[in-house]
Amino acid sequence: MHADSDSTGRSVGRRLPRVDGAGKLAGRTRFLPDLRWPDLLHARMVLSDVAHARLLALDVDAARRAPGVAAVLTAAEIPGENAVGVILDDQPLLPTDRIRYRGECLALVAAESEQAAAAAARLVRATVEPLPAVLDFDDLAADPEHPIHERGPIAVHHRVSRGNVASGFADAAAVVETSWATGAQEHYYLEPLGCVAVPEERGGVTIHGSLQCPFYVQKAVARACGLPLGKVRVIQTPTGGAFGGKEDVPNELCARAAALALITGRPVRLILERREDIAYSSKRHPYRIRVRLGADAAGRFTAIEVFQDALAGAYATLSPPVLYRSAMQAAGPYRIPNVRVEARAWYSNTAPSGAFRGFGSPQACVAHEGAVDRLAAALGLDPVEIRRRNLLAEGDETATGHRLSASVGARATLDAAVDAVHADLGAGSLSAGGGAPTAFDLARDPSLGEDPARWRMGTGLACMIYGNCLGHAGWHMDGAGAFLQLHADGSASLAVGLTEIGQGAETVVTQFAAEALGVEPALVNLVPVDTALVPDSGPTVASRNVVMSGRAILDAAAQLKARLAPLAAERLGCAPDALTFEGGAARGPSGALPLAELAQLAFRRNVNLAAEGWWHVPELDFDPRRGRGEAYFAYSFATQVARVAVDRVSGHARVLAVWAAHDVGRAVNPAGIEGQVEGGVVQGVGWALGERVLWDADGRIVSANLSTYGLPCSLEAPAVTTLIVEAPHPEGPLGAKSLGEPAIIPAGAAVAAALRDATGAPVERLPVDPVDLLPHLEMPSHA
Ligand code: MOS
Repeated sequence: MHADSDSTGRSVGRRLPRVDGAGKLAGRTRFLPDLRWPDLLHARMVLSDVAHARLLALDVDAARRAPGVAAVLTAAEIPGENAVGVILDDQPLLPTDRIRYRGECLALVAAESEQAAAAAARLVRATVEPLPAVLDFDDLAADPEHPIHERGPIAVHHRVSRGNVASGFADAAAVVETSWATGAQEHYYLEPLGCVAVPEERGGVTIHGSLQCPFYVQKAVARACGLPLGKVRVIQTPTGGAFGGKEDVPNELCARAAALALITGRPVRLILERREDIAYSSKRHPYRIRVRLGADAAGRFTAIEVFQDALAGAYATLSPPVLYRSAMQAAGPYRIPNVRVEARAWYSNTAPSGAFRGFGSPQACVAHEGAVDRLAAALGLDPVEIRRRNLLAEGDETATGHRLSASVGARATLDAAVDAVHADLGAGSLSAGGGAPTAFDLARDPSLGEDPARWRMGTGLACMIYGNCLGHAGWHMDGAGAFLQLHADGSASLAVGLTEIGQGAETVVTQFAAEALGVEPALVNLVPVDTALVPDSGPTVASRNVVMSGRAILDAAAQLKARLAPLAAERLGCAPDALTFEGGAARGPSGALPLAELAQLAFRRNVNLAAEGWWHVPELDFDPRRGRGEAYFAYSFATQVARVAVDRVSGHARVLAVWAAHDVGRAVNPAGIEGQVEGGVVQGVGWALGERVLWDADGRIVSANLSTYGLPCSLEAPAVTTLIVEAPHPEGPLGAKSLGEPAIIPAGAAVAAALRDATGAPVERLPVDPVDLLPHLEMPSHA
């Protein structure tokens, strides 16, 4: 497909259709359930139906004897260690004495058919002694020392401390004290969790799965099965969405399926039904956040104090990095000399809160942006002006005291977003507040014109900072590899260690390889991620893929070009360092040698044309005790503005439009950026307005399907204007920085601000309850 060729011959910066797009659009992509294995067994999990209990006995005899059953897995049959904690060791693969949430997996059945497995799973009997459950912040407040884990009620605690907040507040002309609450969120990826574990003839096991982090799975399977890492191979199947929900959770499924495969000597498939997936799998952390923010008479921030409390769920899983990130970013993208942050995650008897796009950042953003707006009002400044006076610029220090010498596009994103909003809505529209629909609004939603007096319009903005990659807390696994092979005809194959989970990564990594070798992207063949092909590249999280794989690919290509250059220079009669690789050829001052010819020549000279690239994040100077220093190596910035219409009769809100300006360092694929931003915005709008994970008093999630959960549909998706800002980072590949998570981070905060603008309600709680808005929306009495 060469329709995407452009005259420059460059690949990076080009609007390319997704390399995985055609197959997915046409239904040709083969997902896990489409794949076949001989002698396949079907596994089914037995899920707990109590939120918190002592587990006294588990009777699996009837299940073992049921028709078609090949094996039952309980804690007693686990071949290796009964442990699956990804960061803290607080989680068994299967519980032995305590059940900590409703939906926890107690045992598994493997049988000849899905029906036989389901029928047998229903025969497993747990004898339990129920314990009081902590399901929400009210339960936690009533019993803060609850005994869910012996290690105490707090799963993780991070802090930031800089300067002296007391003197900062003393110097302030105005101080605001604010409280914010945000809800859980279900990932609702299109494809539920699933994997197949295949026992290998020579020992060990191969895992095929819908997952984000093959190297995590490899370690979890090896540990639970007592296998050497080299005997566990993990191959990612095309994955129908993840959003963080397939970061660590697949470790558990794959380890259990692998254990069953080793016990039975047969391939075992474990695919969850939607309702199981929702009961069992991780969610976004609910947060309660208090922010105190002060500014001097000129509107410059003097101090901020932030207390973040999150519900971790039954096990710590990824709470440590989630709370690390929300703590480091708690003060937002602002220059503030005095900072104190305390961030804690508390155990609760709900499904583990884990990774979800943004990793605690959307929650932190709702709070810091809400406080900034409140302070602006107290000082009589408009929301744009107060941000202009405080946004980070080059030479400033972040809240953790990291001096930024380059790549600070914060102010540029604010200016780009505000200019676009003024062009569309008119000057002054960002603080107009509560008016009737305008021509712009009616063009977006003509139905607003049927009864204009019924609607209150509002506009709100939010800014954010996002630390790229894992930061200090995860530095030890912030490296990634790539395997690049040039073939004798000038085409190439590429393997990387980070996965495509819907974000467009396959296209971007292909572009980097094509750019570096100077060939068309169509000549680069990317193979599925496989732990046997590339070095451990860490997890596909933290919006790492562009940065990490990009740098590793550039490294591999540089090695290849260094081996090719002397041959090309010899042919072209120039110095090797005078060569460039572009337009399908090595080019010197006086001529060009097609890459295919050069590759042929290299083969005849026995030159190795395969290279393994590697890159790791530079060492970070950070003191975790005080939360001081280089929390991350680079930061992305963004500003989003939301335009809302609030129905004065029902209190329901619609988001009509979002303007999203993102500093991506360098735009690798502008079409992919628009896709990421549109998806992130809609996901953020859903979290702010419609999506509700509802637990009943017994700890059961009752909003467990599409008709009750409130996922936004296409009719509720706002028109999104994506504005690309490029402030290149010297360490980013060709300047590029992270985008995947930034796309969602400011969206909820911008919607909350727009609702405040429309109604005057404080909007301190997401998802927004129409009942909270109604008192602020009195209707004129008209018949
Ligand atoms: Mo992602 S939320 O960093 O898996």
